[in-house]
Amino acid sequence: MNVLIACEFSGTVREAFRRHGHSAWSCDIIPDSSGVKFPSHYQCDARKALNFKSWDLVIAHPPCTHLAVSGARWFKDHREEQEKAIEFFMEFIDCAPRVCIENPIGIMSTKYRKPDQIIQPWMFGHPETKATCLWLRKLPLLHPSNVVEGRSPRIHHESPGIKNGLTRAQRRSITYQGIAEAMAQQWLPFAEHWAKITQLGTRNPISQSWKRWKINYLPAFGR
Ligand SMILES: C[S@@+](CC[C@H](N)C(=O)[O-])C[C@H]1O[C@@H](n2cnc3c(N)ncnc32)[C@H](O)[C@@H]1O
Repeated sequence: MNVLIACEFSGTVREAFRRHGHSAWSCDIIPDSSGVKFPSHYQCDARKALNFKSWDLVIAHPPCTHLAVSGARWFKDHREEQEKAIEFFMEFIDCAPRVCIENPIGIMSTKYRKPDQIIQPWMFGHPETKATCLWLRKLPLLHPSNVVEGRSPRIHHESPGIKNGLTRAQRRSITYQGIAEAMAQQWLPFAEHWAKITQLGTRNPISQSWKRWKINYLPAFGR
């Protein structure tokens, strides 16, 4: 399957899908930071990358600076940036047969619609809290894969300053490994199953014409 992880520099979700043997690509305006030797990464605007292949599944992590409730006190001074952020988010809603858009709790719940689900890292093996909304198109809800105790906000685990070339905000935005793995494990079989059904669906005209043939001609051959 062709999978695009839009707005991802860490390669976390991309590599989870590649480990399952699929053609997964990430895309970000900044370079890949995964350390993988030949990363499947497009360094460009994600809106362009949407046209690079026929994507079966797109998982998008659009920037949340002007959308998340945590930045609400600055909203009034950045109306234009917010409009652009909303527009960018909306580019992904039906960009592929199956889509997941990920963002923190924020204005998209009212500007677009309520998310299909809100997940936490502690549901996927990381003892931390960071409410993350998922808007899903033709994908099932993600099941908690490993619920753990000991929950503190992620901010406590990140020291300030640049580390490995990444700012604290960038490091905090990296998708949790457990969530990436759950997406690949749970959504790939689902998407593959439906891709097969759709292929079968293309044979429908044949079975339809076979039905028509049976109705129209078989009686003549019968008795
Ligand atoms: C919230 S972070 C997501 C990080 C991601 N979870 C990861 O693990 O790498 C949003 C990302 O969107 C990227 N971005 C911003 N505008 C973009 C655009 N037009 N096209 C592609 N990526 C963009 C930013 O550089 C940033 O890395």
